[in-house]
Amino acid sequence: MRKIKVMTVFGTRPEAIKMAPVILELRKFPVAFETTVAVTAQHREMLDQVLRLFKIQPDFDLNIMSAGQTLFDITSRALLGLNEILAKVQPDIVLVHGDTTTTFTGALAAFYHQITVGHVEAGLRTGNKFSPFPEEINRRLTGALADLNFAPTETARENLLREGVSAEKIFVTGNTVIDALQQTVRADFTFAEDLLNNLSRRVILVTTHRRENLGEPMRNVYRALKQIAADFPDAEIIFPVHKNPKVREIVSAELGNLAQVHLIEPLDYEPFANLMNRATLILTDSGGVQEEAPALGKPVLVLRGTTERPEAVTAGTVKLVGTDTEKIYSAAKLLLTDAGEYQKMANAVNPYGDGKAAARIVQAMRWHYGFADQPPETFSTK
Ligand code: UD1
Ligand code: UDP
Repeated sequence: MRKIKVMTVFGTRPEAIKMAPVILELRKFPVAFETTVAVTAQHREMLDQVLRLFKIQPDFDLNIMSAGQTLFDITSRALLGLNEILAKVQPDIVLVHGDTTTTFTGALAAFYHQITVGHVEAGLRTGNKFSPFPEEINRRLTGALADLNFAPTETARENLLREGVSAEKIFVTGNTVIDALQQTVRADFTFAEDLLNNLSRRVILVTTHRRENLGEPMRNVYRALKQIAADFPDAEIIFPVHKNPKVREIVSAELGNLAQVHLIEPLDYEPFANLMNRATLILTDSGGVQEEAPALGKPVLVLRGTTERPEAVTAGTVKLVGTDTEKIYSAAKLLLTDAGEYQKMANAVNPYGDGKAAARIVQAMRWHYGFADQPPETFSTK
């Protein structure tokens, strides 16, 4: 049988973290697959640190990132760049991940070349077109283009079935983020920074970056943080600030020069994952962090009005608090003052994966292309 040419396409930090386990797994099957990696580099530094960590050298790098890039910039540059790469390599299948603009353009470019599309982390939905923006539409459009859907959970599978995707095109695999996390968090991890090695107070870890939160919603979040810092001197806030200049501007206006708030550069994935493991509480609008923290038994307050990841909310380790200053402050206060409430949320649960998602995805691909006798077992938390 001839080798199947697989091209993975991604561009941002979270896609790289979650696609890395798939690439490493594909490379274990050189008889079946010839794997190439194309990055749009919609992110630059935040992408490169993940590639270094997982020792992945892209075969193609479109290097599209520009400061303050718009959705039009990313979409047009990625689409034109990917056209050339796909024309040259002519892969049998393109794998994209999640819901970024790179994800959608990767799927669209593959479709224009009539190449099979595999969607990793398929089927997440909020049902709200503008939340998150533009990710909800990116993931729905990618879903419309996908031929193979790797749904992380049963809920994601049900979303796809409701949209008319046929059952045999969906594999419930778990989320590869748990594969990456399990390879990265260690009890004896030492940070490069003294600040992070010498933390003696309770750690509140914060990240924010959502486009729909830019402006007043983000300001409101930071006002709540300021209040938390003022009222809880036995806690310190570690805030690796996303590189988006629009985020940075609001952060420094609201949170600059507060002794208990450490505004630091985005951390590389390895220290960040280990810092989550060291945190008492996490406040975030991130998708990936919502999946990782429950696995580490860390309560999460989600700074958004909707989530496409309801599983941990149901499990009780994640609460949606939105961007209202008072609501965020009181939810954080409750967890910092009431040990019973804290313990209720601090259970380690793994609704998102068991560390074998990449193996299931690659097994599904081997089965699809006739290299394996059976499909993978379905990921289940039951
Ligand atoms: C993007 C994705 C979002 C994902 C997020 C993960 C889209 C539309 N958005 O949002 O779905 O959740 O990544 O973080 O696809 N920058 C740098 N260096 C970097 C990365 C970013 O300087 O390594 C700056 C640049 O000025 C860039 C800006 O951040 O223009 C915004 O990056 P962009 O990818 O457009 O949006 P994100 O908010 O990062
Ligand atoms: N992350 C990281 N360094 C940081 C903040 C986050 O490595 O300073 C990781 C985090 O562990 C998770 C991923 O980045 O795996 C989430 O990325 P982000 O929040 O940017 O995007 P989203 O998941 O919301 O799309």
